[in-house]
Amino acid sequence: MGPLKNWDNKTWLSSQKYIKSFNRFILNQVKLNRNSRILDIGCGRGKILANLSNKLRLLNKPIGLDIENHKDKSKKIIFKKIDALSYVSKTKLTFDLILIKQTIHLLKKKQAIKLLSICKNKLSPNGKIVILSLDPKKNEIPAFQLMNKKLNISLKKDEKLFNLILKNQNKIVIKKFVFHVQILKTKYLQMIKNRYISTLLNLSNNQINNGISEIQKNYGKVLKFKDRLICFVIKNN
Ligand SMILES: C[S@@+](CC[C@H](N)C(=O)[O-])C[C@H]1O[C@@H](n2cnc3c(N)ncnc32)[C@H](O)[C@@H]1O
Repeated sequence: MGPLKNWDNKTWLSSQKYIKSFNRFILNQVKLNRNSRILDIGCGRGKILANLSNKLRLLNKPIGLDIENHKDKSKKIIFKKIDALSYVSKTKLTFDLILIKQTIHLLKKKQAIKLLSICKNKLSPNGKIVILSLDPKKNEIPAFQLMNKKLNISLKKDEKLFNLILKNQNKIVIKKFVFHVQILKTKYLQMIKNRYISTLLNLSNNQINNGISEIQKNYGKVLKFKDRLICFVIKNN
């Protein structure tokens, strides 16, 4: 799979409305204040973390990890271009929040389980790991046929990983984050062209172009749907 470069590149996922709504959700799951230490695994451009830092007036710059180094990433975070597992295995820091948003499914099952077990040891006494991923049971992401097929296969795989996580963790709470998206079809088609979601990374240009024509034909001018995430909150023991 190639690198995921356009996930939060001018999509609803980088809109202020989405980020504010998402961070309100996060602050309902974890008690944080200006002294909190936060780690975001797979932080992308770091915009969520930057907004959280402003909102909480964090004294310690939050740390964001990603294997992709975007030129237009936020300057309000300490960014480290590193594989998540390598970083958490080495760091001596502990965190009040370890956020893993829409990233865990990109790791191999074994790696993901190992990452979580190490992350648990890097939590402060009241710290929490918050994992978010596309809801495998209620996905509404607009897709063309081939994209839908690939998405369903990967959602089934994700579900297996979640079951394993649930089996491995005894203090885990399940929540849902739902965001109402309204986006112009032309904008969404651009996102597809940019291969914004990992499902699209391995498709050929031809398959992408056919998919674009399919969406062009089957959807109206404005797309309205719910972006539904499942959320696992893991507490320190
Ligand atoms: C779908 S994006 C999610 C970005 C951000 N968390 C959000 O929700 O807006 C997944 C991110 O995880 C990063 N990633 C993938 N594997 C990683 C790894 N092993 N360590 C750190 N980051 C990784 C990708 O480069 C990508 O930026």
